[in-house]
Amino acid sequence: MTLSPPRDTAATPGTSASDEPGLEARIGSTTPVTDQEWWRTAAIYQVYVRSFADGNGDGIGDLAGVRSRLGYLAALGIDAIWFTPWYRSPLADGGYDVEDYRAIHPDFGDVAVAEALIAEAAALGIRTIVDVVPNHVSDQHAWFQEALASEPGSDARARFWFRDGLGPDGDLPPGNWPSSFSGSTWTRTTDPDGTPGQWYLHLFTPEQPDLNWDHPDVRREHEDVLRFWLDRGVAGVRIDSAALVAKDPALPEIVGEYPAGQHPNVDRDDLHEIYRGWRAVADEYTARAATDDGDTLGDRVLVGEIWLADLERFALYLRPDEIHMAFNFDFMARPWGAGGLRAAIEETLAVHGPVGAPATWVLSNHDVTRPVTRFGREDSAFAFDTKRFGTPSDLVVGARRARAAAMLAAALPGALYVYQGDELGLPEVEDIPLDRIEDPMHHRSGGVDPGRDGCRVPLPWTTDPATAGFSPAGTTGEPWLPQPAGWPTYSVAAQQDDPASTLSLYRRVLELRRGDDLQHGDLVWDDDAPDVIAFHRGALLHRTNCGTTAVPLPDGADVLLASGPLPDHTLPPDTSVWLTVRSA
Ligand code: GLC
Repeated sequence: MTLSPPRDTAATPGTSASDEPGLEARIGSTTPVTDQEWWRTAAIYQVYVRSFADGNGDGIGDLAGVRSRLGYLAALGIDAIWFTPWYRSPLADGGYDVEDYRAIHPDFGDVAVAEALIAEAAALGIRTIVDVVPNHVSDQHAWFQEALASEPGSDARARFWFRDGLGPDGDLPPGNWPSSFSGSTWTRTTDPDGTPGQWYLHLFTPEQPDLNWDHPDVRREHEDVLRFWLDRGVAGVRIDSAALVAKDPALPEIVGEYPAGQHPNVDRDDLHEIYRGWRAVADEYTARAATDDGDTLGDRVLVGEIWLADLERFALYLRPDEIHMAFNFDFMARPWGAGGLRAAIEETLAVHGPVGAPATWVLSNHDVTRPVTRFGREDSAFAFDTKRFGTPSDLVVGARRARAAAMLAAALPGALYVYQGDELGLPEVEDIPLDRIEDPMHHRSGGVDPGRDGCRVPLPWTTDPATAGFSPAGTTGEPWLPQPAGWPTYSVAAQQDDPASTLSLYRRVLELRRGDDLQHGDLVWDDDAPDVIAFHRGALLHRTNCGTTAVPLPDGADVLLASGPLPDHTLPPDTSVWLTVRSA
């Protein structure tokens, strides 16, 4: 697989830029994307396929839609795309219920289209990362269907967690583990003769039975799936729910605290061996590529979805023979405020340093509230269990902070993740009609939790009022999730020529981020006001004002880019700026 040489990204003016061309050229110089260790500093864009772009007019995003927008992504300045699951699936959980890893969902295309997309992206210098879900499969997966048709105690059932129920008739669930999606983690099966049968475990929905990773088939199959996609030219794999995969085989009740690594279903020590196996597969492809002149993808990488409060435990997964990098949910969940964000940055860098892994900087994804809406709330921290309908948000403040946060995340050392639509400043859509919400998180909460569809609304590409350009012109049907009124005003077409737009800001941010200072400079904290996050990397100074009053900009430095206006040489509240130290 060959990547093209680094592209010459079109310079799009940001809100403010240096007028010293020499200085800017140095800051904005490109790091070749052919670097072996590209992932350490990459900007990785998350595509939620169903909602990105609809190529065939059926109201559902697809791979043809992505192919038609690769030029947009190249001009945005990203290094890789992470695709949320694109496999055949009943979509009980947006595709995180995989029926067949070797087939593309027919709504999206087929494997040949995926191969073409991977190759076309590579030709534009964009690597592909696919999503793999080791904790569970769909209840329609051949293995689960085989298990249902097999006897209790059979090998087919041993690939999952089947247990007899409790009580005289076995009609009580065998355990008390809480589900990540409300309700019980146990569902009773019906035997082929129609009588009630055994129960099976599912940490998420009943349509997502958990796999038993002590069974050798499960390991073998997943390593084969990695090879299937690595053979098709992907440069990496995102590992879904990575800390939940191993279970205590006794499936004991959860009571009290556990010694590190021994909780019945989270962060068990056994996981490390599993991911060492995956790393060996990825490394095999990396090593093979090293001897192939035609292969410029560099390292094949693993990205972990690891939600753990204990950052020391989190970092264990990032040791040199395990996962390459993991999403930084600690940073992502912090409320707006210098103290908390600074602490998250310090703690992140402190735990990543010793294991030699890059930090990642994440502001959102397909599971969480869009930053524009979250940062406009009084409590702007993210937590799944505090999501409620009707929580007020000041979207003007939120949009200002989201722009400032984007510059902060992009200025930090490590890899950057951008969720589709954040570069357009999209807010969370909070008024999706209840009968259109698909997310099981909403339905399983008894309708209390709004669910995650609000950040999954199909993207606006043009000012066409019909589908805001999500579907091809002339499409009469609605997208799979309704778009709110006003959606076209956020569209790419509405923003692309406006130098003050959020899209222009992101383009400029990603372009400047490719410069030496932001690719390689060490982060050094600077003294500033307590409400200001202040550091420099090489000659680039970063400032984010999280306070309520404007602060003076540093002397002896020129403004390169700002997330908002800078009146009277000050940095107003909720604003970030990048400056370059003026040479003597
Ligand atoms: C991960 C995914 C989420 C999914 C869950 C179950 O957290 O990001 O979307 O619902 O796993 O697979």
